Amino acid sequence: MDQIIVHGNGPLKGEIPIAGAKNACLALMPATLLTDQPLTLTNAPRLSDIRTMTELLQSLGAEVASLQDGQVLALSSHDLASHRADYDIVRKMRASILVLGPMLARDGRAEVSLPGGCAIGARPVDLHLRALEAMGAELDLRDGYVHAKAPSGGLRGAVFEFPLVSVGATENALMAATLARGTTVLKNAAREPEIVDLAQCLRAMGAQIEGEGTGTITIEGVQALRGATHPVVTDRIELGTYMLAPAMCGGEVECLGGRIDLLAAFCEKLDEAGISVEETSRGLKVARRNGRVRSVDVTTAPFPGFPTDLQAQFMALMCLAEGKSVLEETIFENRFMHAPELMRMGARIDVHGGQAVVTGVDKLRGAPVMATDLRASVSLILAGMAAEGQTTVSRVYHLDRGYEHVVRKLRGVGAHVERLKEEQT
Ligand code: EPZ
Repeated sequence: MDQIIVHGNGPLKGEIPIAGAKNACLALMPATLLTDQPLTLTNAPRLSDIRTMTELLQSLGAEVASLQDGQVLALSSHDLASHRADYDIVRKMRASILVLGPMLARDGRAEVSLPGGCAIGARPVDLHLRALEAMGAELDLRDGYVHAKAPSGGLRGAVFEFPLVSVGATENALMAATLARGTTVLKNAAREPEIVDLAQCLRAMGAQIEGEGTGTITIEGVQALRGATHPVVTDRIELGTYMLAPAMCGGEVECLGGRIDLLAAFCEKLDEAGISVEETSRGLKVARRNGRVRSVDVTTAPFPGFPTDLQAQFMALMCLAEGKSVLEETIFENRFMHAPELMRMGARIDVHGGQAVVTGVDKLRGAPVMATDLRASVSLILAGMAAEGQTTVSRVYHLDRGYEHVVRKLRGVGAHVERLKEEQT
């Protein structure tokens, strides 16, 4: 397996282009199943997860063309050849469950493998299913698949309150509701920018949606949707990740395409830690103010709270901060797997259940470490950039799922990172 070799770094300088959001694109692509007209997505990220979603949609009979070096995706699904999302694809990427709602809404039937758990938690899909059942879907769970059928007249509008905020379940229900008969009201809906982006794309396709970005989304079902061309929103998690590079190493980096409104809670914590964030005409300029980074307590929460997907990366920063910081992970039950790897580099972290107490140290030392999940992998690279000596990160296939050209982007601001292909390791 490939490895990434990182050497401790001095101050960084330069600019990093931020790509389109993986988690927006993975919800936008299944929207092609809602119409027989062409859907074009621009500013698409070049990631293995996007290739997996492409493979899944093609297995259903949709056409997906990747143009302009993968930055444009041209999708269309005239007649679906299959309504079965196979386990072999779904197990590689949980977001595959997002084809369920659109297929049900469009053709009244779907067979989707249950995704199973992943490294960071059990990650059930019960809320996806309950929301669709509220719209009249008949679901039969057997042999590891959801066998779903819509009533003869199609899905019908419903009022559904999510017992807890779920990004994916909100996306599935939102897409299904666009073609349901009547009005759907989703309460305690997720408010993430990726939800807003999906709603804007669906509206461009002719859907009637109000309230996205608030906790209540109202959808008036329509007979059919048309095609559209939609730009994928900037990836706030990639943005936050790269904002932490100058925070850890010093210097100044401009993240092109970055927007404060995507990461307000995260930027507040950076400010408390002594990191300056300046809005420019091209994005966000980030620099560490004089002196050592200060410890800051963080509790992850659904948007607009501090993103769980930036918890691992922020922990890497707190490892070098002055004092103690308490990181509470409230979204997933097992999202501190980067802690033992950071401790191999000299970090002082005490993990108890959903809480990690980080006691800052003067320096980290490079070491061989192992990536365990997408966001943990990049926190180890950030730590290696601020450590003395060499850090070797293995299992970097996790990285390719969510960070396009990570070595190129970091080298572009002076980081000493390189990727060793498997045959070289
Ligand atoms: C999305 O996952 C993101 N993935 C995750 O990003 C992100 O961490 C998460 O939202 C939270 O922001 C994509 O968008 C592809 P949830 P999702 O449903 O939709 C529980 C990354 O690194 N839950 O909001 O699966 C669940 O177990 C990934 O890019 C149920 O109990 O997250 C979790 O505890 C990691 N039943 C909580 O809700 C359900 O039916 C939030 O999960 C669904 C979820």
